[in-house]
Amino acid sequence: MIECQKHLFDIPDGVTYLNAAYMGPLLKSSARIGADAVHKKLNPWDIKIDDFFDPPNRYYALAAKMIEANANDIAIVPSVSYGTAIAAKNISVKAGQKIVVMADQFPSNVYPWIDLAESNDATIETVPWPSDDNWTRAIVDAIDDGTAIVATANAHWTNGTLIDLVAVGEKCRQVGAALVLDLTQTLGVTPFSVKDVDPDYMVVGSYKWLLGPYSLGFMYVAPRNQNGKPIEESWITRKGATDFARLVDYKEAYEDGARRFDMGEKSNFINIPIAIDAMELLVGLGTENVAAYIKTLTDYIAERARSIGLNVADEQQRVSNLIGINFTSGVPEGVAEKLAEKKVYVSIRGDSIRIGPHIYNDKADVDRLFDVLESSL
Ligand SMILES: Cc1ncc(COP(=O)(O)O)c(C=O)c1O
Repeated sequence: MIECQKHLFDIPDGVTYLNAAYMGPLLKSSARIGADAVHKKLNPWDIKIDDFFDPPNRYYALAAKMIEANANDIAIVPSVSYGTAIAAKNISVKAGQKIVVMADQFPSNVYPWIDLAESNDATIETVPWPSDDNWTRAIVDAIDDGTAIVATANAHWTNGTLIDLVAVGEKCRQVGAALVLDLTQTLGVTPFSVKDVDPDYMVVGSYKWLLGPYSLGFMYVAPRNQNGKPIEESWITRKGATDFARLVDYKEAYEDGARRFDMGEKSNFINIPIAIDAMELLVGLGTENVAAYIKTLTDYIAERARSIGLNVADEQQRVSNLIGINFTSGVPEGVAEKLAEKKVYVSIRGDSIRIGPHIYNDKADVDRLFDVLESSL
């Protein structure tokens, strides 16, 4: 079991930050690396051609390691919506077919499908909230021969209820549906392997659980989809891009693998080194170990919540890193203000409080949260 990693972060003693689902903090080392990277541009003559390619190559390798893919299957994207737009551009949908999504799914993995359905006379099938929290069964049951695409995640972003992607992937393959995943709320802190799930596309933003910068993420594109069309035509994705003297010898061919899907200016000299630093930590600790550590905290949250009569999903129906506490008759008045006053940071969503602990949290953080909740009931 790994230990609490709070020493690596700049979180003051008076702050209880339990909201990685909103935004993860940078590591202190990443902030130093980012500051150095900003300063490097004071002297652009020191930025060499290799600096355009070597850091992205390291980032692909770390991303690939995290999901058991090849570095060549990874593209650098600025946002989840950019990745889902690539997927939507490359999956064909016929009139009358269905695109399956979950109720209240995060919009970046919904809007492109609404658009694609509208322009092809297809329909969106929204799987309603399952009363038993069993999203896996509900989604698998919704997939049939008429399903063109399943756009989903490893957990519902609002409360951490779990989706077994191995089962969903299997059903997709049975009926020939494409599988598009947004793993922004779980990747790096919950094990995931493209070998087990075999998605067509998987995209993740780096600024939450991956402890990275904003405006950067990565995308896995299954080898079978790597002949697709990107959504922009950048010089850096074409063959021979390393030869800066010959960029106007326009090339028809893209670089191999998923390179064609990279965003323009993929070599962001500030964001990429920051993201690499955090990915090195997470990959070094190991996703299984990180997940096991965080699960001790979400399990403790579940135990504390139940002991005062509050609702949480059963252990088998929730992901290790994210948990929602549901107040059947609404979050009690004044809780938000009290949490803010005590500098306890969580998200309030409707009748629920969403808690996202990470490797910098410990049980004392959970105790401080419950001090506020218990005094508010
Ligand atoms: C599940 C999920 N996906 C994606 C995002 C961010 O999407 P984008 O990168 O398109 O802004 C969020 C942000 O809250 C999220 O919770």
